[in-house]
Amino acid sequence: MNNGMNPDGCKEYVIGSVRCQVSQDADQAAVLVAQRIAQIIREKSEAGEPAVLGLATGSTPVPVYQELIRMHREEGLSFQNVHSFNLDEYYGLKKDHPESYQSYMQAQLFSHVDIPQDQAHVPDGMIARENVEESCRKYEEAIEACGGLDFQLLGIGRTGHIGFNEPGSQANSRTRLITLDPVTRIDAARDFVGLENVPRAAITMGVGTILNAREIYLLAWGRGKASVIRKALEESPTEDLPASLLQGHQKIIFALNAMAASELTCVRSPWTNGQVTWSEAMIKRAVHGLSHKVGKPILKLVDRDYQLNGLEELLSLYGSAYELNILVFKRTQATITGWPGGKPAADDRSRPVPSDPTEKRIVILASEPGVECSPLGGTLNRLQKQGHQVSIVYLTSGGLTVSGDAVNRLQNLLAMIAESGGVLQSSENLSSGLLELVKKISDEATTEQAIRSLIRKHHSALAMSALNLSESTHHLSLPFYESGGYRNFAPSDQDREVFLTLLNKLQPHQIYVSGKMSDPSSLEGVCWQLFEDTMSDWGEWKNTNQIWLFREGGDRWESHEVDMAVPVSPDERALKEVAMAKYPVEIFLDKMDGALRVANDYDDLGLPEYEEIEAFQLHKPSITA
Ligand code: F6R
Repeated sequence: MNNGMNPDGCKEYVIGSVRCQVSQDADQAAVLVAQRIAQIIREKSEAGEPAVLGLATGSTPVPVYQELIRMHREEGLSFQNVHSFNLDEYYGLKKDHPESYQSYMQAQLFSHVDIPQDQAHVPDGMIARENVEESCRKYEEAIEACGGLDFQLLGIGRTGHIGFNEPGSQANSRTRLITLDPVTRIDAARDFVGLENVPRAAITMGVGTILNAREIYLLAWGRGKASVIRKALEESPTEDLPASLLQGHQKIIFALNAMAASELTCVRSPWTNGQVTWSEAMIKRAVHGLSHKVGKPILKLVDRDYQLNGLEELLSLYGSAYELNILVFKRTQATITGWPGGKPAADDRSRPVPSDPTEKRIVILASEPGVECSPLGGTLNRLQKQGHQVSIVYLTSGGLTVSGDAVNRLQNLLAMIAESGGVLQSSENLSSGLLELVKKISDEATTEQAIRSLIRKHHSALAMSALNLSESTHHLSLPFYESGGYRNFAPSDQDREVFLTLLNKLQPHQIYVSGKMSDPSSLEGVCWQLFEDTMSDWGEWKNTNQIWLFREGGDRWESHEVDMAVPVSPDERALKEVAMAKYPVEIFLDKMDGALRVANDYDDLGLPEYEEIEAFQLHKPSITA
């Protein structure tokens, strides 16, 4: 393994036979990938040959397509000689279904460039069962007829899938019908507004089809992908993790942003790769990592543990394991506090939060209703009990997560009330009358959208009342969410203005916010960007403000990244559960145990054993007064 900075400003690592380009952010990485695609298209065009591209869908390639569209518009990049073959398509979805990959490709790329429609291929998801095999064979033949794939673009799923080659897919598999893994379906549930709407199967190119491409780029953004990226690159190739089968390819590049690369050994433990300058954060990471690796609490680590695990240098810096253990243990212990708003009149020199002012103005920024309960329900409860002025700000309505089924149920209920009460002549009158009313009192574009937003608002009101915070909520319903859709959010100055005005009015001493580590096209990633963009216009209050980063859903901070660990007692956990139960269960699918896992990590390090720990990292923005 070696590494270095390449001229494009990204860091380059070689892991086994795989080149990894690590850029600071996704947009930067996407530009490099788009440039490579454009180069292939141009070279092939000059040679009078077709450029045969394997394309992917999902959130990840969106910035690459955006850059290609820009090059087409501004630099004359033509797609006339491009023959594209998409990796996959959901089985049973009509071409014009909004979630079909055919619709996706039209919206994200094809309709914006000059690719001849008959050269843009997406597997047919509506093919009858008995014809699937033949159709898949023809897809492979069509690729071959064009001369094979010059370039294959890939994303990666949490299961390690490439295309829809789920765990178990063989290295020599070809285009075929496949059953989707439950984790993949959960990840798609949001796009389809409900797990029940997600298809169970898909047609996908095989791993073998992908490996036949002459050049492959796998892209990943955000911390959510970091763990699967590490496994794909550092563990032995296995069919259990199809992306790892790429390791044998002669020209494979992983284009990552810093967050997606953050668990790679070369990034995470640079000391294994040569001499480093030890920072406080790096020492903590090394000692926590060692403790987890050898399965011993910090205070039981001995010199030999350090020596056998490449940390000899730390021993010589600190004299012995004993000294180092105590230092890191104490530092970690100091992150634990039951006073997330600061402990009044306490010596706060080694506490995460200053004691003054005793009563703080605190703002919780939730990208949408539902994301606040699991990562910080206990903290919210404490802040409120400890006398702080807490404001929960829901940036968006969350209406996109409300299923059509929930809307129908509400409409049916209205109709039933009308019928049984006999107040009005007909149920339709009451039902449609109320719908009109909903439309009048809401800014939403359609009644259905308005109802969806109200349903989610209702859930959040119930949840916050369970935490005794019903008086403290603000629903910003930022316009970018109402006029956009997942992967297509484009905040404008108006969103920024609404957001900024509220922050400057609330003048918080503490802000809790998520999304810094996320895929930038995800809702929380977009909200984080909006938040960061407003910073330069914050008022005087920014000088005394602390920003605490939480991680949404099942994501969690690793123990060494935590700056404030708020313990959750069994009673508080029960209270959180009551609050969470106010939201429909699909909001928390697979996403409830982040705080539990932090508690287990702390326990393993030899710190007190808690029911849960809600963990936060202090954000240090580069703004000055
Ligand atoms: C898409 C595809 C999938 C996605 C993967 C990641 O055509 O084949 O393998 O690349 O599921 O999806 P996102 O990018 O949405 O995280």
